[in-house]
Amino acid sequence: MSKDFDDFVEGLQNQIYEETRTNYGQVAFQRWLKPLYMGAFDNPDGHGRIRGSCGDTMQIFLRFENDKVKEASFQTDGCGSSTVCGSFAAELSLGKSPDEILDITGEVILKELGGLPEEEKHCAFLSAEALQEALNDYMIKQKRRETEKPL
Ligand code: FES
Repeated sequence: MSKDFDDFVEGLQNQIYEETRTNYGQVAFQRWLKPLYMGAFDNPDGHGRIRGSCGDTMQIFLRFENDKVKEASFQTDGCGSSTVCGSFAAELSLGKSPDEILDITGEVILKELGGLPEEEKHCAFLSAEALQEALNDYMIKQKRRETEKPL
């Protein structure tokens, strides 16, 4: 490839990065570049899967130890903002008890990542909803385990 073409591509990439940083802020930009906690894991204690009104799906996977989240991850087929929000939803749940997870709302996620443009705020609420669904799944399984215990 010619150097001119390489320079053109690099210039374009830098422009996209700059626009993204300006529109989304430094915290969200960094997380978009490096989305932590991405990917499913096998046999989660809690799994939530929600399809938003935008048509995108968010999944959250939780593993508990001593009733606190030991491992968390997300998976989405959605936009860049949903990737950032899913990543923060997973991160915020780490080390938390079920009661503490209840406090992780869309607003909390938005605050953590420094806000989003109005039309993308719903991505944070979708992530929070998937997290609450994963918690719900964990609680149901816990209850089932308790009732199945021999007397
Ligand atoms: Fe659908 Fe972001 S999750 S647009």
